[in-house]
Amino acid sequence: MAFTKKTVRDIDVDGKRIIMRVDFNVPLKDGVVTDDTRIRAAIPTIQYLKEHNAGIILMSHLGRPKGDGFEAALSLRPAAEKLAELTGYDVKFIESTYDDAAAEACAAVKPGDILVLENVRFLKAEKKNDPEVAKKFASYADIFVLDAFGTAHRAQGSVVGAAEFIPAVAGFLLEKEVDTLTGIFAEPERPFVAVVGGSKVSSKIGVLDHLIDSADTLIIGGGMAYTFFLAKGYSVGTSLQEPDWIERAGEMLKKAEEKGCKILLPVDNIVADHFGEDAVGEVVASDAIPDDRMGMDIGPETEKLYCDAVKAAKTVFWNGPMGVFEMEQFSHGTKAVAEAIADSDCTSIIGGGDSVAAINKFGLADKMSWISTGGGASMELVEGKALPGVEALLDA
Ligand code: 3PG
Repeated sequence: MAFTKKTVRDIDVDGKRIIMRVDFNVPLKDGVVTDDTRIRAAIPTIQYLKEHNAGIILMSHLGRPKGDGFEAALSLRPAAEKLAELTGYDVKFIESTYDDAAAEACAAVKPGDILVLENVRFLKAEKKNDPEVAKKFASYADIFVLDAFGTAHRAQGSVVGAAEFIPAVAGFLLEKEVDTLTGIFAEPERPFVAVVGGSKVSSKIGVLDHLIDSADTLIIGGGMAYTFFLAKGYSVGTSLQEPDWIERAGEMLKKAEEKGCKILLPVDNIVADHFGEDAVGEVVASDAIPDDRMGMDIGPETEKLYCDAVKAAKTVFWNGPMGVFEMEQFSHGTKAVAEAIADSDCTSIIGGGDSVAAINKFGLADKMSWISTGGGASMELVEGKALPGVEALLDA
């Protein structure tokens, strides 16, 4: 699906003041940004606006503050400093967002300037999408740009609100994310193989459902596989399981059969007698998990099966690990699948969250075609839902 909204390319930004919502919700340790991926991802739009003589005001949330005012640990100052470091631009930061000082600082923004406002969530009204918040942001600028893909699923003041008052268009990151993540459903090069893992069926039901409609093969791993095993009548010992979702898992298997989507479930597993760093794994077949053992990773036969399916694919979408990859002894399955995706010349799209952490851990990030910067936002898109932030923008 082509992106159907206006972008910064479609609007005259020359000499205009732009207020741009970015997603600088980055991890911090002792006031230092430990992963600057999201800041880097916003740079192309910032660069474009600067080169086209616009004055730029950036706003973002960071974490989940209480909303009762300033919280030092969640200040955006380190993110603003990181942006300056990455771009070499002079980036100004103001420790306020909604008061007169912020309004004055925004009014002083000249073409080519970059000003970062303080965390928009230091005020409760932002999360409630109070129109007063949106009005305030709109009063700071001539044009609103949304480039915060990771937050585009939140109907909050800084994400959707300003669009009601001033022209609102997308930045390049938002455009690329939406294009890529919806494109896999519109016209994937086939075979299209989806790999979904993680702990719970319940949290990815919409994703699985939508993928079954479109993928040729759906590979299932991680803790959610055990609820599927229960649906098939296997015992799962003490493995993670969601009894309330067994019936739904069974329905998915049936739907996949009807739709001609091949579902691959683990044929063997690495199990352990407890969950912990000192746990020792052993291989068991999926229909023979002992009562006192829990599944921790996919087994070697499954690894081969999954890697072969990935190698034969032209398009791969991946979300969620195959096992407890944070523990070395149970990271093998996730690593093997990640390497198979990296080594293949397929179009590989990684749908945010834990799979991104896994790919970074294994040093494979630069071998993937696209790694989404969104967690919840990418999942909602893959579920086929519309994102409120995108909906609010001007139609192309
Ligand atoms: C994210 O990290 O997924 C986004 O920045 C959104 O954050 P939120 O879940 O706190 O709204």
